Amino acid sequence: MDIVPLGPGFAAELRGVTLADVASDDAAYAATREAFEEHSVLILRGQKVTDELQLEFSRRFGPPEVTKVGSQGTGTHFVILSTIGPDGKVVPADHRLQMRSKANQLWHTDSSFKRVPALTSILSARIIPNYGGETEYVSTRLAFARLDTKLQRQLENSFAWHDYAHSRGKIASDLASAEERAALPPQCWRMVWRNPKHGRGALYIASHAYAVEGMDQAAGTRLIEELTAAATAPGSSYLHKWRQGDIVMWDNRATMHRGRPWPSHEPRLMIRTTIAATDADGLATMRPPSRQARQ
Ligand SMILES: [Fe+2]
Repeated sequence: MDIVPLGPGFAAELRGVTLADVASDDAAYAATREAFEEHSVLILRGQKVTDELQLEFSRRFGPPEVTKVGSQGTGTHFVILSTIGPDGKVVPADHRLQMRSKANQLWHTDSSFKRVPALTSILSARIIPNYGGETEYVSTRLAFARLDTKLQRQLENSFAWHDYAHSRGKIASDLASAEERAALPPQCWRMVWRNPKHGRGALYIASHAYAVEGMDQAAGTRLIEELTAAATAPGSSYLHKWRQGDIVMWDNRATMHRGRPWPSHEPRLMIRTTIAATDADGLATMRPPSRQARQ
């Protein structure tokens, strides 16, 4: 297996390894896992992807999430990200599916609003538009390392609230449905996720984050916005231009990402599998102290 660095200090392409290798071979999994912990975003090109193979590969990294209510694929292990309606045609620009893809264009980390946040997301391109539709990544580990030590210490002992309805509300006030709001109450997480394998911390923020525990809401929002701006400063991102057969997996503990726009009349279909974080991934350290005591 060759590891080819692609981004500014993170993100790498793995060559000489396939989805099937990782799914079936312990040594291939161990090497991929080590690269994942180090590089945060991994790209495998030229894969023959099926839903089953994507899920078998994904399961190696931990327990797969079940897709939430209100998303395409609900109740399965797959999230279907698509603007193609049931009749096979691309839905109009003001359709809910198009609005949701706009919400995905805000800098975020997947599943920070869930009771169990995600370790990794695995995304495969099935139908790609001719222009645009890239996925852009930043390393929140590198962003954390760039902060001064006083702020680092403050953030390691701070907790932010994450709410799905908040990020959707930035696009349209009713984009999160009543059913989704009821299923997804706000969650509170430490603002730095320390990787238990090598001990390096990463900022844990997202478009879903709206408040900081112990700060008034405006000041908390401002801090989250400033940290997001610093983490996503020009020159700090890796832009993935999708090709047929690409699989990209990323560490939701140590990155943020956003979708990039494409002409809304062009079809795009992506399939995501998502692996829940466990205590082996550092999850227990992310809960506020009162909650750790209750667990
Ligand atoms: Fe996402």
